[in-house]
Amino acid sequence: MWHPEKDIYWGSENEFLAPSEERYSNLEDPSTLEEPLGATHMGLIYVNPEGVNGKPDPLKTALHVRETFARMAMNDEETVALTAGGHTVGKAHGNGNDSVLGPEPEGASIESQGFGWINPKGNGNGADTVTSGLEGAWTTYPTKWDNGYFDMLFNHEWELKKSPAGAWQWEPVSIDEDKKPVDANNPEIRQNPIMTDADMAMKKDPIYREISLKFKEDQAYFSETFARAWFKLTHRDMGSRNRYIGPNAPSEDLIWQDPVPAGKTNYNVEEVKNKISKSGLSISDRICIAWDSARTFRGSDLRGGVNGARIKLAPQKDWDGNEPTRLSATLSILEPIASEFGISLADTIIIAGNSAVEEAAKAAGYDTNVPFKAGRGDATQEMTDENSFNNLKPLADGYRNWVNNKHLSNAEEMMLNKTQLLGLTAPEMTVLVGGMRVLGANHKGSNDGVFTNQLGVLSNDFFVNLMDMSNKWNISGENKYEIVDRKSGNVKWTASAVDLIFGSNSILRSYSEVYAQDDNKGKFVNDFVSAWTKVMNADME
Ligand code: HEM
Repeated sequence: MWHPEKDIYWGSENEFLAPSEERYSNLEDPSTLEEPLGATHMGLIYVNPEGVNGKPDPLKTALHVRETFARMAMNDEETVALTAGGHTVGKAHGNGNDSVLGPEPEGASIESQGFGWINPKGNGNGADTVTSGLEGAWTTYPTKWDNGYFDMLFNHEWELKKSPAGAWQWEPVSIDEDKKPVDANNPEIRQNPIMTDADMAMKKDPIYREISLKFKEDQAYFSETFARAWFKLTHRDMGSRNRYIGPNAPSEDLIWQDPVPAGKTNYNVEEVKNKISKSGLSISDRICIAWDSARTFRGSDLRGGVNGARIKLAPQKDWDGNEPTRLSATLSILEPIASEFGISLADTIIIAGNSAVEEAAKAAGYDTNVPFKAGRGDATQEMTDENSFNNLKPLADGYRNWVNNKHLSNAEEMMLNKTQLLGLTAPEMTVLVGGMRVLGANHKGSNDGVFTNQLGVLSNDFFVNLMDMSNKWNISGENKYEIVDRKSGNVKWTASAVDLIFGSNSILRSYSEVYAQDDNKGKFVNDFVSAWTKVMNADME
């Protein structure tokens, strides 16, 4: 991929660095940043270095830094360590005018290759580099790992200045010549150090200040905290510890790796399945618990998924998207079954979902065996960082035809976001949504998109009725439509935009037409089973 993936939700703006207001209900309250976004602007990873919307104000910036880092599951101490540690080395680049830069490398002509972003000033690099637009280093010795960042920050008063590129940056009111950073290109000269607005937050915000002062006094503690936070920052997309190989992999279990003990692998799956089938749990209950457990998986950082059975732990057990009352009723049936067979609840949840798929396929006339891999384990509450798991909370799920009502972006877009995090293709998304509708997997039993008279049967009715030219579609409310018989005018079904997108988008419609075909009922069941299995096993790969 050489361009931002289009099925990731980056925010509703169309322009990099557009003003932040779009992403917040109230910019003064950073917690109102639209979920699931992390940065204050599209195009940045944390916050605007010049201040919120480019207006320097370290106390305000501090609140935004806290929110964006919390969304990466970093606490205040980790945040100070990372920012200070990162800025202990290197420099900011803004020694020139960014309006003269060439187009971005991918947009530049073919011969402009190999040297990054074309900059016509001087050599176009080194002293002339323009990236963020801020210019200068943070410490006296910007190539050394030392405590210079805190010494610089606390031993000087700082005032606002403009960089040569016109960006706001903080510079010392006065500083001894020998404390200034040596120029990055010419060791004979020294330059003023700088602080971004976020660096100033490390001094001005009372909580960050206390941590910074502690680090200033204790370099060993700072270094240790930085090392741990850096390892977390750079490894947290590797998922669980069993993916780590080589002599440098730490032997310690780290809570942010979401530890899960290994589970039993050698047991009779059919016996468990039979027990569940006779337990009185409905097809819909079984599908919902398996799906809700699996859907937290994110291919982007390999977190979430069924393994660990964290759906029974805080915070997942209380998430609205998981229908807590129904969830706890389902768990009260599955947990004793898991104990009886001495297997993990996580495996039991999958077996429950698979048994429901098999029964529903059978009711549609197809004998199938949903593939299953054993060996998931159950995590405990102590192994679970609740704050960090809050970031996996679903806010919308097109597969269960649900969107929480305060969500700002639209349900179809959020479905694409989930689809890409689950690693599913568009045909897989299509077959899953169509199948889940007829299996009764809608959130709180809503009837939207349930275009069938045989709920619980794995039929292709969703697609047949969606494609049926004798129907027409009327808007009946926000994200709400009625499906009306063209001739009689009678309302046959209701639907959401997520349902109708499979008829209105030309590509999705082409998949829907395949699944609506009379002679493709078997294909529909097979494809549903393989997409379902992919989701159930996503965290085992
Ligand atoms: C708190 C939010 C942060 C802000 C607003 C911020 C802002 C910036 C800016 C504006 C630059 C200059 C880029 C350029 O002009 O080339 C920079 C450079 C740098 N940042 Fe940060 N940063 C933040 C946090 C971090 C963190 C968490 C790390 C790593 C742990 C980090 C590591 C670095 C490094 C190493 C450089 C120097 C790059 C070079 O020498 O080319 N920063 N940062």
